[in-house]
Amino acid sequence: MKKKVLVTRKLPDDAMKLLYETCEVELNPYDRVMTEDELIQGLSDKQGLLCLLTDTINSTIMDAGKDLKVISNYAVGFNNIDVKAATERRILVTNTPGVLTETTADLAWALLMATARRIVEADGFMRRGDYKGWGPMLFLGGDVFGKTLGLIGMGRIGCAMARRALGFNMRVLYYDVNRLSLDEEKALSAEYADFDVVLRESDFVSLHVPLVPSTRHLIGARELSLMKATSYLINTSRGPVVDEKALVEALRSRRIAGAGLDVYENEPEMAPGLAKLENAVLLPHIASASVDTRTKMGAMAARNLIAGLAGKLPPNCVNPEVCGKPEYS
Ligand code: DGY
Repeated sequence: MKKKVLVTRKLPDDAMKLLYETCEVELNPYDRVMTEDELIQGLSDKQGLLCLLTDTINSTIMDAGKDLKVISNYAVGFNNIDVKAATERRILVTNTPGVLTETTADLAWALLMATARRIVEADGFMRRGDYKGWGPMLFLGGDVFGKTLGLIGMGRIGCAMARRALGFNMRVLYYDVNRLSLDEEKALSAEYADFDVVLRESDFVSLHVPLVPSTRHLIGARELSLMKATSYLINTSRGPVVDEKALVEALRSRRIAGAGLDVYENEPEMAPGLAKLENAVLLPHIASASVDTRTKMGAMAARNLIAGLAGKLPPNCVNPEVCGKPEYS
């Protein structure tokens, strides 16, 4: 008998095909986030859940899925899931690491370039017909080549940023709770430094940490005050890593030169005043949004779900301790 699964939003075709072939699928018929009531009702007879970073999967939702065995998240970040509650209920949780690393780093790099070189402002200027001819002071921005890149978080995506920086002859400083090996640092030409030193010495500070209690508001008024007045903050990690109100103030007062953001503290809302600031480039959480990457993420999320439902340890399980019992092989 096919296992029953709830899919909270339509995914790329390859993933849906895999799921329809192996499971009895209930798919959210709407192109919007499911409400808590809809999740509770949808999960009542399901063994599997394939959800997105926009779905908050807490203990109440899990308890509604009396037969729930696997929660497969279509994202590398899984801060939307209460993993501790899942583990206590012996529910496997999976994510999609690796496949989105380069695409996310590409987007972070695009934000860095767009913010420094004022690409969005200049594009709007052209479209409004404001361009009357070349000017010596027109849209002066910041250099990227040869500058210092500060990476906060040196996991897969942080390292992918460091590799891009090599091509721009940048000095790379990084801070992470786990230091790389000396060989890894050498290969990336990256120097380990204290958190405050990275903030003080970098021309670009790019955030690549997961959202956990210790990284909530990691960048607030104090940290922004340490950054150079000519520096830029880039965030493609999770919005709550930055105190967005403090950032708006720092951008408005030119405490820092600019920010490139793909994520927000209370998505899809933005802090008051942010959208009005010309020194911010704002994107709608699209770091992994390439056709190839979303297709890979979908297939990975589907395979994780199918493996867990078959009683196997899924390839990308974040709480493998759940599998310590004989029913999993
Ligand atoms: C993730 O996978 O965590 C990304 O934020 C999705 O784009």
